[in-house]
Amino acid sequence: MRLDFYLSHVTELARKAAKIAASKGRVTVNGVVVKKANYTVQEGDQICLDDTLLAWPSEGYYLLHKPAGYVCATEDPDHPTVLDLLPSHLGQALKIVGRLDKDTTGLLLLTTDGQWLHRITSPRSACHKRYRMMLADPISDGDLQQLESGVMLNGEPHPTLPAVAERISDCDIYLTIQEGKYHQVKRMLAAVGNKVEELHRDQIGPLSLDADIAPGEFRALTEDEVLYF
Ligand code: URA
Repeated sequence: MRLDFYLSHVTELARKAAKIAASKGRVTVNGVVVKKANYTVQEGDQICLDDTLLAWPSEGYYLLHKPAGYVCATEDPDHPTVLDLLPSHLGQALKIVGRLDKDTTGLLLLTTDGQWLHRITSPRSACHKRYRMMLADPISDGDLQQLESGVMLNGEPHPTLPAVAERISDCDIYLTIQEGKYHQVKRMLAAVGNKVEELHRDQIGPLSLDADIAPGEFRALTEDEVLYF
């Protein structure tokens, strides 16, 4: 496996940051400084970042900046899946935490840890997810209030749970919800007579998508971030 891949799996560095760390001489393999990101790491190598010995974690926890056009599924006959963005040995072991639509971008979590996944997705945990969206039509303050207090979705027996809606401009808002029903955000906006043109998730609970992780990039979560959930 390439050194920069290894570093982006076991540390919080994304691949670009991992390449830079290596080029600055912060990484040693078996006691020797290795500056080349394409150096091949072998099983049993002792790899240090800033003199801290790194270890392959028993469970994997990753965040991915999902680009548009990728589906959240393990396999799809017609479209690339988010797992295609990860090295194959890793992708095979990971489960996707919740689903984003094919055209939705932003923060997606992946893990090997089923209990951790359940803690985030279970309706009981009421884990907050924040979405930013561009709307087809300007939205009124009244509609924002309705989104906050709850709207009836087609085919659902109960109104949506309390949410937080914040205006950025006429057609650009944040909506923070604590549920994860199928197409929930798009259906909520449809319920107030509007249409979501672009949808991006930037927060799950206390975790935000890093500004320097480009679409398609991923990184391992830090131990502290894993403990958020
Ligand atoms: N709500 C939606 O409608 N789509 C998503 O991708 C996520 C939340």
